Amino acid sequence: MTRLDAACDVDRFDGEGAMPHDELVARIAGKQALVSTVTEAIDRAVIDAATDLRVIANVGVGYNNIDVAAARARGIIVTNTPDVLTDATADFTMALILAVTRRLGEGERMVRRGAWKGWALDQLLGMQLGGRQLGIVGPGRIGRAVGTRAEAFGMTVVHTTRSGGMPLDRLLSTSDVVSLHVPLTPETKHLIGQPELARMKRTAFLINTTRGPVVDEAALAWALKNHLIAGAALDVYEREPEINAELMTMENVVLAPHLGSATMETRTAMADLAARNAIAVVTGQPPLTPVP
Ligand code: DGY
Repeated sequence: MTRLDAACDVDRFDGEGAMPHDELVARIAGKQALVSTVTEAIDRAVIDAATDLRVIANVGVGYNNIDVAAARARGIIVTNTPDVLTDATADFTMALILAVTRRLGEGERMVRRGAWKGWALDQLLGMQLGGRQLGIVGPGRIGRAVGTRAEAFGMTVVHTTRSGGMPLDRLLSTSDVVSLHVPLTPETKHLIGQPELARMKRTAFLINTTRGPVVDEAALAWALKNHLIAGAALDVYEREPEINAELMTMENVVLAPHLGSATMETRTAMADLAARNAIAVVTGQPPLTPVP
């Protein structure tokens, strides 16, 4: 905000959470730059109402909240915040892998409800990571950073991409942990559904820190109920902040509130990069990180 205030006249939304959509549509006319977050739908209605808009600077690496094609058609540049959040998101993915494989959520809940009766040889036994296979679906920057961390835990890392690596079917049927790192596009919506979950090992865990709709949540609940996989750890959901009611009741599911990039350093860097992108475009400079 300091950077933006110094360079522009800022019309700021100070409310809680995302700016209501109709308010955004009403306030966008006459603005040259829009700094948005991943919870705001920057759809055709917003873009049509924008009379002078030159840049949409999203605070986030994902930009599925923006109708990029509609923006492009109007000559509006869209930017995101890659790189600055890679380490924080990869760290958090490891936190989820460890939490679900070592049953940390279950243990924590047991302690808090006063049900812990002391150490026991066979209590809450989890799965050790060393020697296990991590399957990374979509190894972009974050996927690769997760792979490096997992190797330090002694895991073997395999990956699949649209253009190569291990075929998805084989990755699913051989991995002990499957971690999703593809962006949400029409092609990746429900990439993991019933057939894919049924292919996974019964002892395997699914981790999602990318976008909720990449996983069919109803299918995930079905797979967990039928013991087709051992557990799941999710940071993102199909209809945030709503959580699938069945997943809420399952002990072997770790549920985080979209915290992947949530460190002070990273969120500051994301906000700063978005501000610099907005200022660059309105002052006639090239954007620092336009979306591809
Ligand atoms: C992103 O950057 O796309 C995350 O979901 C929010 O940090």
